Amino acid sequence: MVTLAIANQKGGVAKTNLTGNLGAEFAASGKRVVLVDLDPQATLTTWILGRTIAPGTAEILLGEEEGARVIIDAPAFGVGLIPAVPDRLRIAERTMSAQVASERTLGKALRQLEADVILIDCPPSMGVLTASALVAATSGVIIPLAAAPEALDGYVQVTANLQRLRDALDLPITIVAVVPTRFDHRLRIARDVLEAARGLCNGTLTSPIRENVALRELFGHRQPIRTYRPDSSGAADYAAVAAEVSQRVH
Ligand SMILES: Nc1ncnc2c1ncn2[C@@H]1O[C@H](COP(=O)(O)OP(=O)(O)O)[C@@H](O)[C@H]1O
Ligand SMILES: [Mg+2]
Repeated sequence: MVTLAIANQKGGVAKTNLTGNLGAEFAASGKRVVLVDLDPQATLTTWILGRTIAPGTAEILLGEEEGARVIIDAPAFGVGLIPAVPDRLRIAERTMSAQVASERTLGKALRQLEADVILIDCPPSMGVLTASALVAATSGVIIPLAAAPEALDGYVQVTANLQRLRDALDLPITIVAVVPTRFDHRLRIARDVLEAARGLCNGTLTSPIRENVALRELFGHRQPIRTYRPDSSGAADYAAVAAEVSQRVH
């Protein structure tokens, strides 16, 4: 079983876009995929299902539910989803922050699942939720980097924060892939950032996901890019990145 966390403490860098679209790509290649929404904003859940009050990540984190019981089938993506309900996940986060070793609960629950690939969509912070994802993500971390000037600074901050969590949790944390997102090849600055990132990321950089209107439209359509606009640059880019990530984790 491959378990990966999609993490970056910055919001708006395409963590959720990446989780849903990569998940759909892996599912299309015949893998049993489970997506886990760990962001109290519940963007992944809302995209895939609409709002829900079904039990999900909050109940798992508090030890009230088993993972397999809360997976919701999402046929349009070909995946199972462990959903988030905003208020409940915020309460769970607060409760966990006051408990010892609570960041281990998620990993224990996910290990029981029957899945080939588990992708965990992290919140834009480095608290106990992201710590839980890192403990659970035994195959490593995927870091999306929006191809903007501040992204390099963002990368340095993410890796420093990951290192800090790794030391605190006494865990090896592998960066499987750094994915340049929202890449606009017409902008000189975006090309420069990509070049600089290549130097910084020691071979973990994948091919970029280009800025693409169809990717931005997905949220209102409850579909992944591969079915919503199969001919778009977004669909091609995600297929390429999914293949690169697959090769690295097998
Ligand atoms: N390649 C892209 N092209 C255009 N819009 C994108 C692209 N990737 C993400 N977006 C848009 O950027 C916004 C932030 O993406 P999201 O996945 O929610 O980021 P995060 O989860 O890191 O906060 C969303 O509106 C999303 O639709
Ligand atoms: Mg998100």
